[in-house]
Amino acid sequence: MLPRNAAAAIARAFEAGRVVLIAGPRQSGKTTLALEIVRQRGGEFATLDDEATLRAALDDPVAFVERERLLAIDEFQRAGEPLLRAVKRNVDRDPRKGRFLLTGSSRFLSIPTLSESLAGRAILVDLWPLSQGELRRCRDALGERLFGSDTRLRQLGVQRLSRTEYLDAACRGGFPEIHSASDYVRRTWFASYLRTIVQRDAVEISRIRRAGDLPRVLRALAARTAQVLNISDVARDLELPRTTLEDYAFLLENIYAWYRVPAWARNLTQRAVRHPKAFISDVGLAAHLRGATSASLAVPGEPAVGPLVETFVAGELLRQRTWSSIDYDLYHFRDARGAEVDFILESADGRVVGVEVKASATFDHRSLKTLALLRDRLGDRFANGVVLYLGTEVLPFGDRLTALPLSALWAPA
Ligand SMILES: Nc1ncnc2c1ncn2[C@@H]1O[C@H](COP(=O)(O)OP(=O)(O)OP(=O)(O)O)[C@@H](O)[C@H]1O
Ligand SMILES: [Mg+2]
Repeated sequence: MLPRNAAAAIARAFEAGRVVLIAGPRQSGKTTLALEIVRQRGGEFATLDDEATLRAALDDPVAFVERERLLAIDEFQRAGEPLLRAVKRNVDRDPRKGRFLLTGSSRFLSIPTLSESLAGRAILVDLWPLSQGELRRCRDALGERLFGSDTRLRQLGVQRLSRTEYLDAACRGGFPEIHSASDYVRRTWFASYLRTIVQRDAVEISRIRRAGDLPRVLRALAARTAQVLNISDVARDLELPRTTLEDYAFLLENIYAWYRVPAWARNLTQRAVRHPKAFISDVGLAAHLRGATSASLAVPGEPAVGPLVETFVAGELLRQRTWSSIDYDLYHFRDARGAEVDFILESADGRVVGVEVKASATFDHRSLKTLALLRDRLGDRFANGVVLYLGTEVLPFGDRLTALPLSALWAPA
């Protein structure tokens, strides 16, 4: 078993909230982690995947949650609102911390009535598929280090990987069950993964009847991963009404199949682009949906490489957020004249990091231009600007600007 870096965040959440929620995409390791937590802390584990347990939870939710010790409820979303209300009443009577651990693979807390009823009582922890650090058994936290000094950043012990090794890691992605599988096994696994999403999750959580269109929609999103998303364009390409496409996209977002990275616009320039960028949650899944393999990506000039490497980076920065000691949000930046920064990380106290991603092993100074502009405009608020590239050297470029090999993402402290 690979240790999960999110476990530390969950332990902290247990100290702070009466209810801890673990949510993330299917097959990210939620059940495994919940079982491990119950084993360590003592308590009971119930899964609503089990029909009899589900029936008990639905028939008498109040009695179902009446326990002395920690109760973990897996696949919580299957019982919906009545069970949630029972949990709320229960923790209102008994305010001890860490009473319930709920796991689910949909953003059930994005439903306003649900989030309101647990407000102030629950702490949500995202559990994404394995990060590159978790795969290598280390605490990866480049996100948090980017807010520290450039001197420290330049001392990171980075792994020297070849372009082929990077692209292979990207195609594998982070789903624990297949991270070391062959190409063939991975392909078969992803195909059945997509079937499960369509046949089970879609039907369970929505009114969408033609769930058969979902793979097509997800494939269209994968074709646009790491690009600015314009829903109307996608709808036109797929010949679907815009509102229908919005329903599909919303549903797929709710089950963590993809996410949006919003545009960052802090008056830096007047005419910044407002549309979000779309990213498939796991780069391995994105590669599968695009029919990309490490062999096909090795062809020089292959256009899928850039967006997949960017999807890889976004996924790692997002995964690391779960256990980062610094709270940051992820944005992208582009202005009307075409100047852009792939990722902006903004901390809760308003400090800013710029991250450019270059899917090439040689370094091009032009990628520093917008980062330097950002630094000069933001002054002290600017923490660091980095270019992540597929080369092997750490290259300093003066005040707070550094080029780092992509493997800096999972460099140990
Ligand atoms: N930390 C880990 N190290 C190695 N393998 C793991 C780890 N966590 C989970 N796995 C494996 O990954 C697969 C999925 O794990 P698990 O069932 O816990 O995920 P899940 O998020 O509950 O999935 P689902 O949403 O489908 O219920 C299982 O085969 C499990 O053995
Ligand atoms: Mg599970």
